[in-house]
Amino acid sequence: MTFNFFFVLCFALVALVYAHPISLLARDVFVPEIITPTTGETWVIGDTQSVTWNVSSPPAQITNPVGQILLRKGELTQNVTLAGDFSILAGNVSFIVPSVTPDDDYSIVLFGDSGNFSPEFSIVANTSGAP
Ligand SMILES: *[C@@H]1O[C@H](CO)[C@@H](O)[C@H](O)[C@H]1NC(C)=O
Ligand SMILES: *[C@@H]1O[C@H](CO)[C@@H](O)[C@H](O)[C@H]1NC(C)=O
Ligand SMILES: *[C@@H]1O[C@H](CO)[C@@H](O)[C@H](O)[C@H]1NC(C)=O
Ligand SMILES: *[C@@H]1O[C@H](CO)[C@@H](O)[C@H](O)[C@H]1NC(C)=O
Repeated sequence: MTFNFFFVLCFALVALVYAHPISLLARDVFVPEIITPTTGETWVIGDTQSVTWNVSSPPAQITNPVGQILLRKGELTQNVTLAGDFSILAGNVSFIVPSVTPDDDYSIVLFGDSGNFSPEFSIVANTSGAP
């Protein structure tokens, strides 16, 4: 009996936890909409690029105000930090495009409280000075 009661209690607690995260998320987690890069945009390796996001309606309390931007290729987040240690409330950050394999399925992940993906764009080599 005690054993069964324990399980019922566990189930009740789990149900409670699952029923409430929505309200917690709504209050604390800031997942700003990424404005740029946009779909099909092209980044040139070595060029200065910026990522911008919408900071028009941040919640009163932000759990993690320190932002980080990682590069993502296809479905995989790469171990390439484009920018870090900036304020998630800044709305934009600039960096030099790193030398990665040129392709057309790159995107970025903006981390603060939570992660948000951009649409896919291309990274190309700098051919303007090529012989
Ligand atoms: C930013 O978000 C607000 C609503 O929160 C919206 O009214 C505004 O148009 C957005 N700005 C951009 C550039 O997307
Ligand atoms: C990610 O890259 C850093 C150096 O840029 C390296 O120290 C770290 O071990 C790498 N992590 C993984 C999981 O590859
Ligand atoms: C970039 O962020 C700075 C503050 O960090 C702000 O003054 C500037 O207006 C922003 N620029 C754009 C294009 O959003
Ligand atoms: C591309 O290469 C040209 C010629 O080498 C150079 O002048 C230019 O600054 C480079 N652009 C970038 C974004 O690195």
